[in-house]
Amino acid sequence: MAASEIPAKRVVLGVTAGISAYKAIEVCRRLVDAGVHVAPVLTPDAMRFVGAATFSALGSEPAQSSLFEGSSPIPHTALGQADDLVVVAPATADFLARYAAGMANDLLTATLLATRAPVVVCPAMHTEMWEHPSVRENLATLVRRVVAVVPPGEGPLAAGDVGVGRLAGPADIVAVVLGMLGSSGDLAGRRVVVSAGGTREPLDPVRHLSNRSSGKQGHALASAALRRGAEVTLVTTVSTPMPAHPRLSVVRVDTAAEMEAAMGIESEKADVIVMAAAVADFRPVKVANRKLTKDDGIPDIVLEQTPDILRALVARRRPGQVIVGFAAETDEPLRRARAKRASKGVDLMVVNDVSAPGVGFDHDTNAVTIIAQDAEHEVPLSAKEAVADAVLDEVVELLGRDQGAPRARGEDS
Ligand code: C5P
Repeated sequence: MAASEIPAKRVVLGVTAGISAYKAIEVCRRLVDAGVHVAPVLTPDAMRFVGAATFSALGSEPAQSSLFEGSSPIPHTALGQADDLVVVAPATADFLARYAAGMANDLLTATLLATRAPVVVCPAMHTEMWEHPSVRENLATLVRRVVAVVPPGEGPLAAGDVGVGRLAGPADIVAVVLGMLGSSGDLAGRRVVVSAGGTREPLDPVRHLSNRSSGKQGHALASAALRRGAEVTLVTTVSTPMPAHPRLSVVRVDTAAEMEAAMGIESEKADVIVMAAAVADFRPVKVANRKLTKDDGIPDIVLEQTPDILRALVARRRPGQVIVGFAAETDEPLRRARAKRASKGVDLMVVNDVSAPGVGFDHDTNAVTIIAQDAEHEVPLSAKEAVADAVLDEVVELLGRDQGAPRARGEDS
């Protein structure tokens, strides 16, 4: 198909009644410049701040505001069904409340109920409103429903006030939207499978053995791979959902055995496998079918080793497949991780010293060393998103190096 025949991605740009609605004009212009088809939808009160004519002139089709006045008798379903993404900028407190409650009393909220496309909201309001419990709860509801949020920044607000609540910059909003739509990054066309979270090994119907992994690093890896254009499968034990994305599929698992089965299937067509999950090394041999009680006395819990999923994946590696392992260590992290990389036969072993402050489990930050066969790269304490990008930078390099030169199975194991 010639490039000119590729249909443009369609985005509904929702604009609600905030002072920062004027910045949505810039969002509209930048999206159109990026080749996106933009259908502007303004709430009636948004038009007290900005004119529909501006959006009609800059957008890809006339701006709409009413459920009843356009040429289509059902404009919300027409818009909702045809779009690839809906972005609402600015999203006021009132809009967030109506959207979270499932109301459909204007064209924008009706369109949001009618769409199955990913949704991004960009809240903007005064600090007091942003911090109000009802706004927090409405946002939490939306996040649970996998709506992506571009949080407001800090700075001058309306009426000379200063604080958190300022609409994110148009360039940042457009980058998120293009990232969610796009397939032009350095992992475009690649299939990436990421495992995340700690497995839970049942003891009886109410108890399990687990570990402190939050899954945040694995989820950050999945988001970064999406941003860089990959088709991503996330095999995770974490129930907090990731924002919906057209190139993301999520497989929820609990136990090491479930993760092994899912990884076995998902990795068959993968170009890249990242085992960021903290897989339990041991599980109870027997799972009681009723709750163990104190009346039964102290139980003798006999453990057995779980299958090493990573080793099994390396043993059946496809030509050219890049495989990454993670190692959480407390003693001699580098020495142990180097040995693990070689013995497991992975391309990269990412090691973190989980005894260091701000590193590993539960934190939003991490500090790692990425160990390859011929080089090591230290990533200082950074956001888990930045660590994810550093790991993917090395993955991209290995994929490039591998082109036309399939790697032998378990090269140095
Ligand atoms: O040997 P160790 O558990 O430290 O290795 C860590 C790496 O191996 C991680 O990438 C982890 O996801 C993976 N692993 C696995 N199956 C296990 C234990 C660990 O795939 N049973």
